[in-house]
Amino acid sequence: MPRHVGIIMDGNGRWAAQRGEDRCEGHRAGSHAVRRIVRVARRIGLEALTLYAFSFQNWARPPAEVAGLMALLHDFLIEERSEILGNGIRLAAIGDLDQLPAPVRAVLDQLCADSAHNSRMTLTLALSYGGQEEIAQAMRVIAAEAAAGKLDPQAIDIDTIRSHIPSLQVGDPDLIIRTGGERRLSNFLLFGSAYAELFFSDRHWPDFTEEDLFLAIASYQRRERRFGLVLEGGAGLSPRAKSSDSN
Ligand code: IPE
Ligand code: IPE
Ligand code: MG
Repeated sequence: MPRHVGIIMDGNGRWAAQRGEDRCEGHRAGSHAVRRIVRVARRIGLEALTLYAFSFQNWARPPAEVAGLMALLHDFLIEERSEILGNGIRLAAIGDLDQLPAPVRAVLDQLCADSAHNSRMTLTLALSYGGQEEIAQAMRVIAAEAAAGKLDPQAIDIDTIRSHIPSLQVGDPDLIIRTGGERRLSNFLLFGSAYAELFFSDRHWPDFTEEDLFLAIASYQRRERRFGLVLEGGAGLSPRAKSSDSN
C-alpha cells in the first residue's frame, strides 16, 4: 500500500461544460467526490491523503468562480466536521492560508486544532498552495536561520530542506494521482514528488469513484520503485510494467 497519496483533483470545469452547466456546478459535484474519496481512503487505511483543492495560481480565476470555491470549502469544513472528528482523521492545511477569506480560515483553523490529536489518517488540504511558493518560503526561513547564526550554510542538506516543507511533514508522497486527463503536476508537491509514482486518469474529478482509486493503487502496486538503484535480481522492468499502458 502507498503510505501517502496525493491527488490533483482536476476536471471539474470540463465536467460542468459537458453538461451545459456553470463551472461552479462542477466544483459542487467535485466536493461530493472529495467526501466520497476521503471516506474510502480512511477505510482502506491510508496514512496520509493530500488533496490539491486550490492552487496559488487559481486566485487569478474569475472572482465569481473563486468565491464559489471558497463557499464550497467553507460548507465542506462545517458539514464534514463530525465525520473527520468521529473517524480519527487529523486535518491539516498547506499553502498560503493567509489569503483565505476570514470565515474559511476560522473554520479551517478550528477543525485543524480540534482534530490535531487524531492519528488514523492525516488529511491535508492544499489551499492557495504552490509547490514553488512552498520551496521559496522554506528558503526564506532557512536563509533567516543561517543569517541568525542558527544554521551553518554548509550543513544545509536535503533533510534540512525537507524539514522546512510543510507538505512533507507526513512524508514524501508515494503516489500522485491526477484526474481530468492532463499529464502534468501543475505546481503540486514539487520537492516531495522526486520519486513519487504518477497515475493519470482521464476521469473528470466529479466522476472519480472508489473503483478509480483502487485502479490507481493497483497500478502503484505493480510498479518497481528503484530510487536510482539496481534491485536484487537485477532484471529490471517486469513484463507488466513494460506494457504500453503508461499507467
Ligand atoms: C479543478 O478543476 C478544481 C480547481 C482547480 C479548483 P478545474 O476547475 O481546473 O476544471 P477544468 O480543468 O477546467 O476542467
Ligand atoms: C491544478 O489544476 C490545481 C488543482 C487541481 C487545484 P489546474 O486546472 O489549476 O491546473 P492547470 O491550469 O491545468 O495546469
Ligand atoms: Mg483544471
